[in-house]
Amino acid sequence: MGILYKNLIRPIFFRIDPEKVHNFALGISSAAGRSGIISRVTESICSYRHPGLKQTIAGIEFMNPLGLAAGFDKNGHAVELLGNFGFGHLEIGSVSAYPSDGNPRPRLFRVPEDKAIIVSYGVPNEGADSVAFQLSGKKLDVPLGINLVKTNDESRPATDEEVFSDYTHSFKSLQPYASYVNLNMSCPNSAADRDFFDDPSKIHQLLEQLSACSPQVPVFMKLKPVSDEEILREIVSIADEFSFISGFGINLPAGKPPELNFKTARETLSKYPGAVGGRPVEELINYNLRLLYNIIGPHSRYSLVAAGGIFTAEDAYKKIRLGASLVQLYTAMVYEGPGIVKKILQDLVKLLQKDGFSNISEAVGVEG
Ligand SMILES: Cc1cc2nc3c(=O)[nH]c(=O)nc-3n(C[C@H](O)[C@H](O)[C@H](O)COP(=O)(O)O)c2cc1C
Repeated sequence: MGILYKNLIRPIFFRIDPEKVHNFALGISSAAGRSGIISRVTESICSYRHPGLKQTIAGIEFMNPLGLAAGFDKNGHAVELLGNFGFGHLEIGSVSAYPSDGNPRPRLFRVPEDKAIIVSYGVPNEGADSVAFQLSGKKLDVPLGINLVKTNDESRPATDEEVFSDYTHSFKSLQPYASYVNLNMSCPNSAADRDFFDDPSKIHQLLEQLSACSPQVPVFMKLKPVSDEEILREIVSIADEFSFISGFGINLPAGKPPELNFKTARETLSKYPGAVGGRPVEELINYNLRLLYNIIGPHSRYSLVAAGGIFTAEDAYKKIRLGASLVQLYTAMVYEGPGIVKKILQDLVKLLQKDGFSNISEAVGVEG
């Protein structure tokens, strides 16, 4: 399957505008997901089960630790087929209270030399109520995470109170369809939103308001990458007050900070606005993962979810050994196709066995 994608499908896709390809792939997946036969055939080709990959995190049973990261299927149109690609969970979104068109196009760029994608979408999505409506009635075999963000519109929400109620509106509307909710605390590409939660008191206020919504599902927080451990420590201590917070993840940094390693000249990259996903962010995300794991420790009530530059089982295993209980990918789907999921899972089992672990949970944090 991987060979077919790389030799036949990818060369065609890579000649076409990335956003058009993405929308086309989602459209096809959404239509195919409605066919029982296609779903079953996809599942039988792509899925891989092994008891060593199974875990219960935040009360949710995951058949394996590898999920599809937020942003691939923002509105949840294709969850039925994506759920058959072998992922242990899917995360849709980011979804905001109100619909948003996002930033002007072009806003998605490939950088093959670096196995990277540059994204400046600015969280376009159909809005929480519409996403809730179209998720209703869909049956999924894998846990579904729903990632929430503030509406990207300069005029709305305008005040702090309006920002909090943007999240609570989406939360109330979508939690009935979610296995877990992930709060996107810093979308790198929506200028109005990026730094809002830099003031930790605003994180506290948001969590207070969510607490008043009686959360029924575990809630994770996808944080901005930092270089200062103290910031993460402060956020974790705020979360300590709210028992519904089950863990943390790290989002992409805004722009192209010096910590990212590129083969491509920075002058060339500066032509593409936005944040970088894929290989160049791996080290920065792993650095933040290590910081977070050092803060929460091995017997924490929190779990860590990590995405950033996973293309192989070794990449996923590294994040697990640094403290991630769940890992996710996005960019590898573009470069390697959906066959990558099974390959990573099969190789992950071999890596676990080589190290003498009978279950993935034993490997979490051993390098932390
Ligand atoms: C095109 C694109 C769109 C994304 N959209 C979102 C989003 O809406 N919300 C979010 O939390 N993360 C979003 N992300 C970040 C991914 O969820 C993930 O954290 C990041 O891409 C790192 O994983 P990767 O290196 O496997 O791509 C997006 C990433 C890409 C490449």
